[in-house]
Amino acid sequence: MKPLDVIKEHVISDENARKYLNNSEYSEFLSIMPEIRASQMKALIVKPIAQFTVINELYFRTRWAELIHSLYGENQVTLLEVASGDADMIPQALSRSNPGSTYIAANMNKILNESLLNRTKDLSIKMLLVDDDAANLKSHIGSDSVDIIAFQHGVNDVIQAILCDQVGVDTIYSDWMDTLPKMIEIIQKQVQEGTLEQNAKPAFLGLVSTLLDILKENGIIAMNHYMFQLDLDWGYPADLFENFMPLVRGWISELSGCKEVYIDKFDSQWWIFLKKQ
Ligand SMILES: C[S@@+](CC[C@H](N)C(=O)[O-])C[C@H]1O[C@@H](n2cnc3c(N)ncnc32)[C@H](O)[C@@H]1O
Repeated sequence: MKPLDVIKEHVISDENARKYLNNSEYSEFLSIMPEIRASQMKALIVKPIAQFTVINELYFRTRWAELIHSLYGENQVTLLEVASGDADMIPQALSRSNPGSTYIAANMNKILNESLLNRTKDLSIKMLLVDDDAANLKSHIGSDSVDIIAFQHGVNDVIQAILCDQVGVDTIYSDWMDTLPKMIEIIQKQVQEGTLEQNAKPAFLGLVSTLLDILKENGIIAMNHYMFQLDLDWGYPADLFENFMPLVRGWISELSGCKEVYIDKFDSQWWIFLKKQ
């Protein structure tokens, strides 16, 4: 696979770990030998993710914090995350990189929403959960009101939910992981029959258009992606899983009102940045 990044030693430095981890995570970090930390970070960068470690958390929190700093310095921002599930890397990063910021999650799975609220309850951010399809965000949030919109490994999930909805598979009340094998079957069929674009692109672009409306002028939509080994083991089409960003980059090029920008040290195989114009 194409590496996620160049290896950046500073990401797993003690200084960063103190900054981006909580006390128990930091103790766990200290309990890992430096060479094991380095090998865990290398595995994360060069292979699909197979282990869930405190190093993964540190890496992704640091990268999101670096991105936010590169765009807005240490100012307070309003950041909307689409399809967060209960992954809390962004709110964890934001509460430490830009404390006092506003974090909005638009996420429609009930079980994961409960878990997200629980994981983020002690953070130094103002938190708003929109428990709805992000396609309906205009009825929850005003136009031109958000600085950054993030898809943290969320593009594939949005596409999976679009396809599930079309064939009557529930992703709102069900357990996401229980539904994943069915989702993978649906994706496999779309890929085999060459129908993925025709079935997923219109709804996906409709959602991105809605997001552009909510975004402030010159605001950024940041999408990132990486692979999980479990999904591949369960039959996720590997070429599609690796190439979600190039795939949706082609779709998004049809939209007006935004342009792709490139940010130094964020690889375009795994990241897309769209600036509202
Ligand atoms: C596996 S979870 C977590 C994804 C997370 N970004 C990660 O780190 O992998 C996928 C989530 O995406 C949400 N989702 C998918 N499409 C969505 C949409 N259009 N609006 C809101 N939430 C959506 C689902 O409800 C679910 O909670």
